[in-house]
Amino acid sequence: MAELDRLMARGAAFFGARYALMGGAMSWVSERNLVAALSNAGAFGVIACGAMEPERLAQEIAGTQALTQRPFGVNLITMHPRLEQLVDTCLEAKVGHIVFAGGIPSGAIIKKAKDGGAKVVCFAPALALAKKLVRSGADALVIEGSEAGGHIGPVSLNVLAQEILPAMAEQVPVFVAGGIGRGEAILSFLQMGAAGVQLGTRFVCATESIAHPLFKRAFLRGNARDAVPTQQIDERFPVIPVRALVNAGTKRFMAHQAEVLAKFQSGELTKEAAQLDIEHFWAGALRRAVIDGDVENGSLMAGQSVGMVDREAPAAEIIAELIGQAAAALVRRAA
Ligand SMILES: Cc1cc2nc3c(=O)[nH]c(=O)nc-3n(C[C@H](O)[C@H](O)[C@H](O)COP(=O)(O)O)c2cc1C
Repeated sequence: MAELDRLMARGAAFFGARYALMGGAMSWVSERNLVAALSNAGAFGVIACGAMEPERLAQEIAGTQALTQRPFGVNLITMHPRLEQLVDTCLEAKVGHIVFAGGIPSGAIIKKAKDGGAKVVCFAPALALAKKLVRSGADALVIEGSEAGGHIGPVSLNVLAQEILPAMAEQVPVFVAGGIGRGEAILSFLQMGAAGVQLGTRFVCATESIAHPLFKRAFLRGNARDAVPTQQIDERFPVIPVRALVNAGTKRFMAHQAEVLAKFQSGELTKEAAQLDIEHFWAGALRRAVIDGDVENGSLMAGQSVGMVDREAPAAEIIAELIGQAAAALVRRAA
């Protein structure tokens, strides 16, 4: 354990947590209960702001602070129209870490967060952008492979880790995400130079997670091959890839694109109207699945790690299992 602690020391110190384990922010799932449970168990919970307005985010932060004395972070989506106010909300509430997701944040917004006293974490989808983000002031990076749940890039963590860790790990702590379900993998990434890891899918079925029982059941049943990215049927109408469990909604999405395409080709819809129609298909879909339990039509965003979700258990138990696996693997590998 001392050796594992040494490998995690930099990441754990960055968070002010016992372990260098970040709970990946998941819209609707990562609210006060799961976030506080993760932080209380020695990991670093992160609130998913998603589309919340600043007033609503302030309530969620206060609610989390009431449940834990430990540090936690807030994940903000860069294209949120009120991003600046959301940063202010975090700073006023003395949130120590702001994670910018869903795009490359401007140098100005990074500076604003840092001047207000927060540490800034950014997602780096490629080495050139990793370097740019560090130049812009990012204190730490997350590299998230295409194995992850939710919105994904095209490159696997296996490749991103090789491209980015050797070049960046000495400059700033780099956390790795996507498809991680066991401690053996956590250990491997730490040994490759990662400061720590970020897991999402593995925490959906935490007892403290408020996800609907049917959403959790889909995760308990799902296998890696069921968690697939959304498919685009025509190159003129881009679809942002989102990894989710296959259900009636994902199948209908294909048929819907075909219908919209036919309407565009017949002149019934303009290109802009057709693109908007396709984009609107999934509006509100994650909420419908996570909160309402509509697992047929809602979005079951999940990583390929979903096959390693085998039971509902308290966050502390999941974390103890991951750390135990990493420590046991370290002993085996040293032998
Ligand atoms: C249901 C769900 C919702 C997510 N929502 C967000 C989000 O709002 N913001 C974000 O940056 N990442 C989001 N993610 C990605 C996670 O933060 C994390 O990086 C990812 O789950 C890691 O891969 P894993 O699921 O294989 O562990 C989401 C993932 C899932 C499964």
